[in-house]
Amino acid sequence: MTGPLLAVEDLRTEFRTRRGVAKAVDGVSFTIARGEILALLGESGCGKSVTALSIMGLVPAAAGGVVGGRILLDGRDLRGLPDAELRRLRGGAMAMIFQEPLTSLNPVLTVGRQIAETLVAHGKVAAGREARARAIELLREVGIAEPERRVDAYPHELSGGMCQRVMIAMAIACDPDLLIADEPTTALDVTIQKQILHLVHELLGRRGTAVLLITHDMGVVAENADRVAVMYAGRIVESAPAAELFAAPAHPYTRGLLDSMPDIDHDAARLPAIPGFVPDLLAMPPGCAFAPRCPRADAHCRARPPDETRLSAARVVRCWKPLP
Ligand SMILES: Nc1ncnc2c1ncn2[C@@H]1O[C@H](COP(=O)(O)OP(=O)(O)OP(=O)(O)O)[C@@H](O)[C@H]1O
Ligand SMILES: [Mg+2]
Repeated sequence: MTGPLLAVEDLRTEFRTRRGVAKAVDGVSFTIARGEILALLGESGCGKSVTALSIMGLVPAAAGGVVGGRILLDGRDLRGLPDAELRRLRGGAMAMIFQEPLTSLNPVLTVGRQIAETLVAHGKVAAGREARARAIELLREVGIAEPERRVDAYPHELSGGMCQRVMIAMAIACDPDLLIADEPTTALDVTIQKQILHLVHELLGRRGTAVLLITHDMGVVAENADRVAVMYAGRIVESAPAAELFAAPAHPYTRGLLDSMPDIDHDAARLPAIPGFVPDLLAMPPGCAFAPRCPRADAHCRARPPDETRLSAARVVRCWKPLP
């Protein structure tokens, strides 16, 4: 296959709530090539985690689910695959570092056992001594001190940051083709952050892993991402090569996000966030979802949702009045 490793096409994920149906992901499309890092940006509640969970086939079925679109991993549509097949892919061909480390580790198994089971289940090592040794090695790689002792700890015996690192160890254990990292470094100090991102780059270089990186940290995006997709209220409103997006954002929302980030060079205090709030998914405005907060919006913006405009081969914006 020479196409992108991951192609998400018109993905739609909905949740049924008492007040109605919330379109948490509303027609999202993007691709990630082998060896590429795509960053997904956007304020809280914009649908970043739900996009990630949809790809992994982990949207809680009781609450809702993927209702449309295609998720092509190496050309194969993950939608409609039998559960057993999806489970086989998870942790093997595709792995995810979850935003909530504690909820995704098994509380009744030692962390060493969990890592070892992943390795054995995906045929990376034989059960027993070899699996344990590799688990210890992985714990060391993610910066856990005294891994020979920590390997026998239960998740509740470790700090949040350490659980995060255990989860990262599990995610990289099987050399996945696709790695989804949802806020992988927020609970970690700067040194460990660097170490983790170094591991991700190492994996990417060695295996050609495709990475979907979800983070609020612009510094992390600027230093690591090849391309950026900006999400707002369940839609991608701008996507561009990282350098171009930072140099000249086209969507007023992207501009607002960049302006509200602390200045990396000057260590300045955080500037005021974009005024207003992310819209209620159950009461979306009729036009552009960002119009109520947008300094450039006019009557047309408020009346009709914008179509996608291609600015160049690699740049797309969904805005009636993109920035020059
Ligand atoms: N299980 C669920 N049931 C109902 N609504 C949900 C569920 N999970 C997520 N949502 C809604 O879907 C929307 C997108 O949530 P999501 O977790 O993807 O946001 P996010 O971009 O990851 O935010 P954050 O930056 O805070 O992690 C939100 O409005 C959220 O309330
Ligand atoms: Mg999230």
